[in-house]
Amino acid sequence: VPNVMILAGGSGTRLWPASTKEVPKQYMAVRDGRSLLNLTLQRAAALRPERIMIVTLASQAEQAAEELATWAGEEQGGLPELIVLPEPAARNTAPAIAAGAAALEQLGGENEAVLVLPADHLIEPVERFASDIASAADAASAGSIVTFGIAPTRPETGYGYIEAGEPISGEMGKRQKIRKVRRFREKPDSATAQQFLEAGNFTWNSGMFLFSLGAFVAELEQHAPEVHRLYTSLLSVSVKTSASGVSVILDSPEVARIYTSAPSISIDYAVMEKTDRAAVLPASFSWNDIGSWDEYSRVFPESVPARGEVSSEGCFVLSDLPVSLVGVRDLIVVIRNGRALVCRKGDSQGVKDALNELPEEW
Ligand code: GDD
Ligand code: MG
Repeated sequence: VPNVMILAGGSGTRLWPASTKEVPKQYMAVRDGRSLLNLTLQRAAALRPERIMIVTLASQAEQAAEELATWAGEEQGGLPELIVLPEPAARNTAPAIAAGAAALEQLGGENEAVLVLPADHLIEPVERFASDIASAADAASAGSIVTFGIAPTRPETGYGYIEAGEPISGEMGKRQKIRKVRRFREKPDSATAQQFLEAGNFTWNSGMFLFSLGAFVAELEQHAPEVHRLYTSLLSVSVKTSASGVSVILDSPEVARIYTSAPSISIDYAVMEKTDRAAVLPASFSWNDIGSWDEYSRVFPESVPARGEVSSEGCFVLSDLPVSLVGVRDLIVVIRNGRALVCRKGDSQGVKDALNELPEEW
């Protein structure tokens, strides 16, 4: 895959107070001192791409560039071209991908393959990830927008669901288990999610997309004309990269104007629910979206600092301060950055709303 586009502009409010405006979740250290973004860069580099572009908000661009430089400094062997594309406004993933596509088209070529990766996932092992992407390359160059399906384990309402259809035409598709998408449904309500789970032929959308630029842009034009307008306008804005090291494409008042008039919509609603080009490959790697404290505590169940529980049970603690728990159960306690969260397990999606009540603490 010649181009990897990493989406790193999310705010991560549901992981407050470890994730803050100053250090959003993709920069939180999660494993061996590495951040989710650092792990994503490692994964991207395993594909030996020609360029890696991080699309993020202008307010986070400096942080992204630093993270990129740190990662590049530790990387052995040749580096791809490294680019940070700062967005002047948060408009969700459809505009972010459209902007990235316009920049990549100017830097690379009209019909190159692009792999879109969210910056907030934990995926292992890297080798399986790389071989799944490689298996999907032919389908993508033949015009499919390939998604990677994850076997669902609960009726999660925070993900997209993919119903697999017939194998894509040709022997190749059959051998590689890639199927057409019969239906793509973003964030269903819990009754629908339960139905999908019971039906057995649905996978979760992992949030990664592999396509050739031409195919993606054609779908954008057909299904999301306003976002397509953003793409065409950005094609005429000249892309500047610095000669060495990390390149930052500077934004301009012109780009800001174009951006603020774009609708705020995710790629899942804007394109994936509507396109006929979607295909799905069941992923062979293990996958987690560390999107909430419930999920975080499932993936990293050890409390930090390690502690005993006095007549309490099933609690998860991540704290800068010593914490003792007495006579409580199934709590999530997070004390980071001078702020504290106490939440019942299973309710952590509500952290976002709780934060609306404390906007100055974000
Ligand atoms: N540059 C940029 N700009 N990135 C953004 C923006 C933005 O405005 N908004 C979100 N992102 C980044 C996030 O940082 C994340 O890496 C990725 O785009 C996906 O956004 P999320 O907001 O985390 O999406 P989601 O988790 O609700 O849903 C998506 O991912 C699920 C799997 O994790 C969908 O694709 C679902 O269908 C999917 O199941
Ligand atoms: Mg997410």
